[in-house]
Amino acid sequence: MKTKDLFDKIVSLCKRRGFIFQSSEIYGGLNGCYDYGPLGVELLRNIKEAWWRDLTLREDIEGLDSSILMHPRVWEASGHVENFTDPMVDCKECKARFKADSLEDSECGNKAYKGRKAIKCFQEGKFTEARNFNLMFKTFIGPVEDSSSVVYLRPETAQGIYVNFTNVKDSMRQKIPFGIAQIGKAFRNEINTKNFLFRTREFEQMEMQYFINPAEDEKWFEYWKEQRFNWYLKYGMRKDKMRITVHEKLAHYAKSAIDIEYEFPFGWGEIEGIHNRTDFDLRRHFEFSGKKLEYFDEATKERYIPYVIETSAGASRGLMAFLMDAYYEEEVNNELRVVLKFHPAIAPIKAAVFPLVNRDNMPEVARNIIEDLKKHIRVFYDDSGAIGRRYRRQDECGTPYCITVDSDTLKDGTITIRERDSMLQERVNKDNLLNILKEKISF
Ligand code: GAP
Repeated sequence: MKTKDLFDKIVSLCKRRGFIFQSSEIYGGLNGCYDYGPLGVELLRNIKEAWWRDLTLREDIEGLDSSILMHPRVWEASGHVENFTDPMVDCKECKARFKADSLEDSECGNKAYKGRKAIKCFQEGKFTEARNFNLMFKTFIGPVEDSSSVVYLRPETAQGIYVNFTNVKDSMRQKIPFGIAQIGKAFRNEINTKNFLFRTREFEQMEMQYFINPAEDEKWFEYWKEQRFNWYLKYGMRKDKMRITVHEKLAHYAKSAIDIEYEFPFGWGEIEGIHNRTDFDLRRHFEFSGKKLEYFDEATKERYIPYVIETSAGASRGLMAFLMDAYYEEEVNNELRVVLKFHPAIAPIKAAVFPLVNRDNMPEVARNIIEDLKKHIRVFYDDSGAIGRRYRRQDECGTPYCITVDSDTLKDGTITIRERDSMLQERVNKDNLLNILKEKISF
């Protein structure tokens, strides 16, 4: 299948099954912003929950939820006011604005020239000189809109962690090495939003900053690189669709950096970055705030500004990778079966329950099963249409288990559990169902 077709099919499934909707769709949509529908929000929460559990259920990492709006000096200290820019050019003819360094990938904004590459317009001298455009969204705090009230929507969650370094260290009596983890929204006024959730203007990050002794930076960089790559494998991502690339062009704060990349239908793209940020951020906040952000090692009597190894994952971009990775089309009995093979831990719905027919007390038994399960896991009841169609609908939602109540249930209390990927069914006693599912889903 052509990769564009595959991409379009997945985007269409996302809307049809309630994963992702265009933001403000009834008004024509808002570019670069998306809404998570009933299944999308469950998938997103499950991914964030898996990350949070794996990163914070350890003694050396603490959680944090810092505010999105921060003191404007934070962004001067971090270098974002000065450096978080993209060079841009405007077309004098069609008035469209492009990133100067990706004209090859952009199309001319003039509808009359549909499909024409922007690079051609550039070669014909239609563009202005490149100017730097800051990617931070600006707004004002309080009623007066002047330069003294400017604040920014954070472009990364990391800075909220750095400015709380001492608060967390002291309140939790943490010793280096230790980390601070945070999940939250970030905003970037991207010039070219593209590829669905890949580059949006509002997105979520799952970031962890690990504070270390500078002498150990290489060891911890390697450690986190491996941990984070394996995290995606743990939740079912295909290894042959992942790779690590080393940055040659480094961000203003980094000594070394790698990307964990996923092969999307449109090509390879970063889903997470691991960065050795050195003491850049803590040192700069020390300089700008006058507050010492350093560490005293009681054992060695050493005093230093810690280095930071950062793991920075996109929750929304990761969601798209998990979604695309899970998508399969298979032929079953000469019919096409579309199935999302999510790992049970991140699947939005864990089990669906069907009465085989809508009579003979089967709906009542199925409803009782739902009542029992829903206290523990997200379940779905469906009694409409042929059983095969109900299975197919759940396959498209990525539901790992379907439970059917049939005439044998009424006789001997057994039900069938159908496993999504193998489509095999086993018959078990309904009283054991919750324990069996718990074991399969392992939550
Ligand atoms: N704190 C470091 C930092 O923000 P980054 O490489 O700019 O580093 C980290 O971003 C992750 O955030 C990326 O790997 C990606 O998953 C996600 N991300 C960045 N910009 C994004 C955007 N415009 N839309 C969606 N996700 C984005």
